[in-house]
Formats: sequence, C-alpha cells, structure tokens
Amino acid sequence: MSAAAHTKKEGAEGARPLDRPIVLVGLMGAGKSCIGRRLAQRLGVSFVDADAEIEDAAGCSIAEIFEQFGEPYFRDGERRVMARLLSEAPGILAAGGGAFMNTETRELIRNQAISIWLRADLETLCTRTKGRTHRPLLNSGDARATLQTLINERYPVYAQADLTIDTGIDGPNMTCRRVLEALEQHLGAPLTATEL
Ligand code: S3P
Repeated sequence: MSAAAHTKKEGAEGARPLDRPIVLVGLMGAGKSCIGRRLAQRLGVSFVDADAEIEDAAGCSIAEIFEQFGEPYFRDGERRVMARLLSEAPGILAAGGGAFMNTETRELIRNQAISIWLRADLETLCTRTKGRTHRPLLNSGDARATLQTLINERYPVYAQADLTIDTGIDGPNMTCRRVLEALEQHLGAPLTATEL
C-alpha cells in the first residue's frame, strides 16, 4: 500500500486493527505463504508459516518428519503447533494444506480466527508445485493425480472457511487486494494498517 493510501486507510471512519488471527487455508500451491506475506505487510501485522514453525519445533524438515516418523506423527505435531499459533497475537497464519482437515484445529480456527480459503484449480496447483521437492505428499507417484484426489477430499471441507477467494486468476498483488476487500466486507469495517 502506498504511503498515501496507508494514511487514508488509517483515517477511514470506523477503521479498526485486526483483533483475531487470519488463517489462510488451501491446497499446496494455492499461494498461502505468498499472499499471507503480502497481507501481513499491508496490515502491519506478523506473518507466520505453520510449516516453518513445525520444522523449527521438530528440528528437521517436513519431508524428514514424514520419512522418519510417518504422517500421523506429523499431523499430531501440526495440530499442536496450530493450537499454539492461534493463541498468539493476531496476525496472518498460513496453515499447511492438511491442517484445516483436523476437526479440532478447524474448531479452534472457527472460534478464534477468521479463515480464508485460497481456492485454486488443478492446473494452477500443478504448475505451482512442479519441480518443488519439499512436499512429501507430492514426491512419489503421480503428483497431478494426488492433487486431484486431495481436491475431491478437501474442497468440501475447505468450503467451511469464513471466506473463499479464487487464486491463480490474478497476480499476487491483485489477489491480496481482493482478500483484503473480502475481509473488510466480512468485518463490516475497514482495517487499520498498523505502523510497521
Ligand atoms: C501438506 C501440505 C504442506 C505440508 C505437508 C502436508 C498437505 O503445506 O504441511 O507437506 O497435507 O496438504 P503447504 O500446503 O504449505 O505446502
């Protein structure tokens, strides 16, 4: 946001600061980290990537956690890290693609945060995840088929998020702007951009 827009926003009638975390949900490659970082910058709040927090807590990569301890162990760690992050100061939280599938985590998000599903089509997800090797679910077999299966399983659940924004149509700045507009509409008030 430009300095002028920033000032105007702060002066907007009824503007208020973010009082709850914003949780970005969606499949791998939907742009949760990319949009989350931009959103946090515009609002002057922190950005946290849940995957990075899990890796920090475990002292190894997600691929290594899957390989050495298995997916159920990872999911348990993910649930605990999400609960901790949701109890911290309001900011933007990018959840791993599977986090919102956990009933307990979903319930916590429903009660303590605003959830935004970044919805992307198969083609967009394939393009964005291609050639990346840090996501164990896509490292073996047919990544396209896996993503299609995950779309079928998860999209009905992601649809329970408070807001849905389609990504993959516009560039990140425009998508970020659409997220912000939807958020302000949902809250019924403009959001104050805190000084960084
Ligand atoms: C996963 C998504 C990944 C990561 C892990 C499992 C999933 O996060 O948590 O590899 O189950 O969809 P991103 O969605 O940030 O890539």
